[in-house]
Amino acid sequence: MARTDEGVEPDRPGAQEWLPTVRRIESLRDAAQDCRGCELWEPATQVVFSSGSSDARVVMVGEQPGDVEDKEGEPFVGPAGKLLRRAIEDAGLALEDVYLTNAVKHFRFTPRGKRRIHEKPNLAQLVACRPWLEAEVETVDPDLVVVLGATAARSILGPGVKVTKQRGQLLHREAADGGRVFLPTVHPSSVLRAREKRNQAYDAFVADLRVAGSVL
Ligand code: URA
Ligand code: SF4
Repeated sequence: MARTDEGVEPDRPGAQEWLPTVRRIESLRDAAQDCRGCELWEPATQVVFSSGSSDARVVMVGEQPGDVEDKEGEPFVGPAGKLLRRAIEDAGLALEDVYLTNAVKHFRFTPRGKRRIHEKPNLAQLVACRPWLEAEVETVDPDLVVVLGATAARSILGPGVKVTKQRGQLLHREAADGGRVFLPTVHPSSVLRAREKRNQAYDAFVADLRVAGSVL
């Protein structure tokens, strides 16, 4: 995977020291429960690792769990997640073929009264959490990695890739990066935010995901 953010020192050592030697999705998921690789574990309810099978042919990477995901312990089960799951099926992909995960495994938020307002993970947190994501991609070894939105793109592809410009285009990374194929697109929450243009935004999102089908 691209490591274009090398040289950024997270405030903490990062997730690396919590990674297990046995690399199976189950062992990674279990080990992540104890991760203290950045400060996000503390206010969050729990780690939200991933869903889907290690036989999946597609890995999809979002930003971080949201409020609902944090409470339920499952990724992509809130409003954006429901939209994503519908779009996957509308694009002709089978949900069983998709492994869903996030660039960061704990929910980052600011408390406001009783509400918890989503806050984007910062670069140090992205770098700290990246060992989990790299281990997941290595373990699942998919045919394609779908990158959902700017935060995931920054973590996986580095700052040079703009999802709004390169959405729906297959990116072939060099063998040094594992020789993988990546498909950047927008984050499903941007479709929800599109309001009166939501149908159009949804159709464009599904069209991007259809490109995934052409690789499988
Ligand atoms: N948004 C994400 O990026 N990931 C989730 O798991 C839920 C919402
Ligand atoms: Fe570890 Fe990632 Fe959670 Fe930070 S966000 S504590 S690195 S799992």
